[in-house]
Amino acid sequence: MTKEEAKKKIEKLSKELEEHNYKYYVLAQPSISDYDFDMMMKELIELEKKYPELISPDSPSQRVGGAVTKEFLAVKHDYPFLSLDNSYSREDLEDFDTRVRKGVAGDIEYVCELKYDGVAIGLKYERGSLVQAVTRGDGEQGDDVTTNVKTIRSIPLKLKGKEFPEKFEIRGEIFMPHKIFEQINKEREEVGDSAFANPRNSSAGTLKMQDSAEVAKRKLDCIMYVMYSKEQLFKSHYESLKEAKNWGFKVSDYIVKCKSLSEIFEFIDYWDEHRKKLAFDIDGVVIKVNSYDQQKVLGFTAKSPRWAISYKFKAESAATILEEITYQVGRTGAITPVANLKPVHLGGTTVKRASLHNADIIEKLDVRVGDTVFVEKGGEIIPKITGVDLKKRPEHSHKTKYISKCPECGTELVRGEEEAKHYCPNEWGCPPQIKGNMEHFTSRRAMNIDSLGSETIEMLYEKGFIKNIADIYELHKHKKELQEIERMGEKSVSNLLTGIEESRQVPFERVLYALGIRHVGETLAKKLARQLRDIDSIMEATEEQLTATNDIGEQVAKSIINYFSEKRNKELVERLKKYGLQFESNVEQAKQSTKLEGLTFVVSGVFTKFSRDDLKAAIEQNGGKVVGTVSGKTSYIIAGENMGPEKLKKAEKLNVKIIDENAFEKMIT
Ligand code: IVH
Repeated sequence: MTKEEAKKKIEKLSKELEEHNYKYYVLAQPSISDYDFDMMMKELIELEKKYPELISPDSPSQRVGGAVTKEFLAVKHDYPFLSLDNSYSREDLEDFDTRVRKGVAGDIEYVCELKYDGVAIGLKYERGSLVQAVTRGDGEQGDDVTTNVKTIRSIPLKLKGKEFPEKFEIRGEIFMPHKIFEQINKEREEVGDSAFANPRNSSAGTLKMQDSAEVAKRKLDCIMYVMYSKEQLFKSHYESLKEAKNWGFKVSDYIVKCKSLSEIFEFIDYWDEHRKKLAFDIDGVVIKVNSYDQQKVLGFTAKSPRWAISYKFKAESAATILEEITYQVGRTGAITPVANLKPVHLGGTTVKRASLHNADIIEKLDVRVGDTVFVEKGGEIIPKITGVDLKKRPEHSHKTKYISKCPECGTELVRGEEEAKHYCPNEWGCPPQIKGNMEHFTSRRAMNIDSLGSETIEMLYEKGFIKNIADIYELHKHKKELQEIERMGEKSVSNLLTGIEESRQVPFERVLYALGIRHVGETLAKKLARQLRDIDSIMEATEEQLTATNDIGEQVAKSIINYFSEKRNKELVERLKKYGLQFESNVEQAKQSTKLEGLTFVVSGVFTKFSRDDLKAAIEQNGGKVVGTVSGKTSYIIAGENMGPEKLKKAEKLNVKIIDENAFEKMIT
């Protein structure tokens, strides 16, 4: 391919990718399969690698991330980054309406919008390309987070059409949908990182991450709500948002023009009731004067426009009695205090428990057993205690003394300098930690031993069959005894042992993740496995060697070193090695060859030996082609567990051969 041809191809791919991206993330109407999209992106990235001089700053490849920001530079805003005056009652809104009508002559039209609860962002565009993204900061200057913002799929890197101003800024809110938030917190807790309190904090934290590839994975979203430019193209705010939508921005579908206060109240009431159904948090609505001319007349105060106001929803709250504070011990030894409440109705459910997070929160709220406390269900998923009704405090109540010993094993608790939580350091002797570690080890994304779930672990632990993860691989020696256990029987013991046996084939990166080293999540385990190849190299690596790549930070490196400095952990690994678990990266198994030349593969389902990415890489390294959809041209389908039923049907209809991962492995070795 000549450079000229490469340039044309890059342009074509970029254009198509952005269009598919727009359809998927802005319109929510996907037009191709994820897989085909990924393949096009891969082609683009490969071409750009060959011709780096052809990479444009608004190439869709920027969305995958990879660039690292060491320091976010401060940027002065072109237009002051104002906030909104808040209101909490109908009277406040009546006053606002009166002020507006006093300030301007003629009819007033308002626009009602949702108030998104995330992080404000200003996006600057020049000649239709995103050139800079800046956070609100102190209102006068914010941080340049362009690299990270480019990974947000609903933000256009290049605008559609031609009717936009040559230079303008559009502002909106970056937020994290509930589903992603819950998933991230689950993963964080799994590896011993503290959970984010709410999606807003999570968005803010993500936006300031150094590695943009990580930001890309967090799947942030962004809705735009105000536009600024020197040229005045529109007469009204509503019109500007409608146009912004045509240029490719995501603008809310729930924007309504209102003529009167009663229409505004109707909008508020509707969303106060229906906000639970949205996929993201809102904390109120925003009311804006629509006409730009009228906005100009009304002007600004030092902090906020006089032509707009926000109305904040009241968080749903209830008062109830705190009956007891108990303490939970997690897999990593982290202690979480839990408020046990007199059951109370709140937002459609009965609440009996609420997290008290850590010792500092208890201290700050001064909550005591017997207190009447306020429980709130805001945007957060777990209800929280927001305060104490001191008037109702019983006379002889005692200040809460945080526990100093582990409630499960009695060991003295510790608290790191910068840690919010207390920890039980007795990881080798504290039952919930031991069982938690085993549960993590056998979980689906780790060793995937289905037949060894939490109940079986609990039972086998209590009966003394397993005291640590390595003991799992000795269970076959106790077959007879196991069969004698009530409710176990021959069949379930055989399932259990088969599941354990099969787990020996789980690839190294997942074994590494399964060990449960603090802060080593799935992504990091994968990176470590790819970079250092085998467990011995990881065990021997120094902190400097570990942090030599941008991906592994100091905290993680310390945690790895710490883990392997413990003799018992080393012994555990040695035992696991002896039992035949994978402690070397097998990605290399697929040597460059032409064995699969001319063959087309579809990969579908979940696999045990290989990850899906490994399979795809292996196909390509051996000269084969991977496609997303089954057609008459497909040579093989490599089917794992849970293969899509549609694919299966189609394959049968077209007579395409279906093979499993073992058969595939034979093909390439
Ligand atoms: S308009 C001058 N519209 O609320 C116009 N803001 O407290 C100022 N926000 O900093 C902003 N949803 O982060 C506007 N539909 C919406 C909004 C919205 C959320 C945020 C924004 C702003 C803060 C003001």
